[in-house]
Amino acid sequence: MSFDPSLLAKARHLVVFTGAGISAESGIPTFRDRLSGLWERYEASELASAEGFRRDPALVWGWYEWRRTLVHHAQPNPGHQAIARLAALVPKLTLITQNVDDLHERAGSREALHLHGRLDALRCFACTRPALEIPKPDEPNEGRRVEPPRCTRCNGKLRPSVVWFGEQLPGDVLRAAFTAAEECDLLLSIGTSGVVEPAARIPRLALAAGATVLHLNTQPVAVQGEREFALAGPAGELLPALLRQAFGADA
Ligand code: OAD
Repeated sequence: MSFDPSLLAKARHLVVFTGAGISAESGIPTFRDRLSGLWERYEASELASAEGFRRDPALVWGWYEWRRTLVHHAQPNPGHQAIARLAALVPKLTLITQNVDDLHERAGSREALHLHGRLDALRCFACTRPALEIPKPDEPNEGRRVEPPRCTRCNGKLRPSVVWFGEQLPGDVLRAAFTAAEECDLLLSIGTSGVVEPAARIPRLALAAGATVLHLNTQPVAVQGEREFALAGPAGELLPALLRQAFGADA
């Protein structure tokens, strides 16, 4: 059975749950893409962990500096824009993202729950306090080692305020996301491989609580039961089409 777009038009509380795939069409590589260029030689866990940062801070900061510049120069795509429009079309929308970029916000979405933190916030690796000044991202320059900037309070090294391998997700954000998943009547799971816990629990929680779940992904997604559906294709094409089907040509 295929997804009935009228379910989107009738949703009272819609949860939109996004992963790296929503930003792929903006030119931001996903995590399951091979790391490119210099980074090809590394595992993501070496570049995104406290151990990696301790071992080689310039390598890790260089990687984040490269990702920060990529995001800085990227633009939201029609998928991000469709999600921003959805907020005005349903009574309640909760946007939950695993992404550390700000492309949802730049497309006009407000109050995205960032489960894995944000690239545009920094904190001190030593004293843990948030950085008072955020250095502007440089020009894209893949493969450069860069010394991390320093904390103006304790001179410790600054790190991105993102969740690294082995670290806890922000508890308040995770709780808000789980609550929304349990309360919604429809959840769109967009561009995520669904393998990284605890975020991957979110669609399962929604299903278990009686909601309908629709996956949008370029790869086929296995679905079970009568309330789980999948559409295969790029989110930047599928989402605008879904909005038109649910809300008419102007949506
Ligand atoms: P992944 O890189 O694991 O998965 C991206 C998903 O998006 C894959 O299932 C692709 O098939 C799909 N995809 C790619 N392009 C797409 C497009 N244009 N439209 C729709 N789908 C597309 O990314 P996440 O699931 O977000 O964690 O990864 C989860 C977490 O793993 C990340 O947040 C990160 C990483 O470890 C942390 O940084 C803590």
